[in-house]
Amino acid sequence: MKINNFSAGPSKIPESVINKISQDILQYQNLNYSVLEISHRSKVFEDLLNETKNHLKNLLKIPKNFEIIFLQGGATLQNTFIPANKPNLADDINFLLTGTWGKKTHSDFETYFQEKIMNTSFDGESFTELKNKIVQTEKKYLYMTSNETIEGIQVRNFNEFDNKQLIIDMSSDICSYAFDWDNISYVYAGAQKNLGIPGVTICIFKKDFIEENNLTSYMSAQNHLEKDSTYNTPPTFSIYVMLKVLEWIIEFGGLEKIHSNNKLKADSLYNFLDENSEKFVLNVPKEFRSLSNIVFDFKDKDKTLSFLSSSTDKGYLGLNGHRSIGGIRVSNYNSVTTKMMNDLITHLKGFV
Ligand SMILES: Cc1ncc(COP(=O)(O)O)c(C=O)c1O
Repeated sequence: MKINNFSAGPSKIPESVINKISQDILQYQNLNYSVLEISHRSKVFEDLLNETKNHLKNLLKIPKNFEIIFLQGGATLQNTFIPANKPNLADDINFLLTGTWGKKTHSDFETYFQEKIMNTSFDGESFTELKNKIVQTEKKYLYMTSNETIEGIQVRNFNEFDNKQLIIDMSSDICSYAFDWDNISYVYAGAQKNLGIPGVTICIFKKDFIEENNLTSYMSAQNHLEKDSTYNTPPTFSIYVMLKVLEWIIEFGGLEKIHSNNKLKADSLYNFLDENSEKFVLNVPKEFRSLSNIVFDFKDKDKTLSFLSSSTDKGYLGLNGHRSIGGIRVSNYNSVTTKMMNDLITHLKGFV
């Protein structure tokens, strides 16, 4: 049975990338050994690491005053790593909370700093209202999750928070659109959605953002910077897979092409849901609808169950909403093809 993988992460890897990885597992660059065996101290890995960083820099148009490091510990480690490397952040930051992942980070920041941290919760207002609420706060930094993977809420108008320096968790939409870095200080993302497999977290930050004090070795951003992400053994295979996915994005035509393709796929599903709005619940206001995770439900809960069970039988994978909210979630990452989305909509039509 053909599988159509719509999982929220780890998620689908493009077929051509899987084929390339399979070859490289057997034989990497005619070296007569596997990519799995590369030493992180070898020239082969040094080249691979540099190529990966260069692709990120070119695709995302990362300015020269930013650094890139690759860490382990997932996006979740960043909830500790960022406060550790910026000890005075607690008094100068506001959190924009649009969903579950931002709330977890906020809670971890409060635990780390042992104090209450300002937050602005999203209550379904328009972007203009939300922006006005935020820009009026006196804090220098604003933390946000650009795409809340569980709720399907996306905020991409970064530069409109123009008096703030942003710290952004981009785990579920990195490399799905280009953006301007003017008021950004720190971006991080786990790789397992748009950039490959779990094991590596991409951290991109302004050189002068870090103000560490006496940290143990792994927690020190300065240490990882000085050792170019090889202070200890990095996740070599996860970084290699990221390189192959970045090459695929370049072949696809770069981030503008990726974005317009994602939008076409997402719009076809949202349009179908809107045309049948008497059958579906969509809680996210239109201007915040995520292109990465399309979250909805049937009004008739029996339909949800029968749709999900028939989807599994037909090879549509990962369509159930997150266990905390239920319903249906269609993850529309870069690797999801137009055909996959069209086939899914045809399948969904059988339930309305
Ligand atoms: C937006 C977002 N932030 C953070 C995380 C946590 O990532 P990790 O499991 O890599 O720690 C996830 C996981 O899905 C996520 O979607």
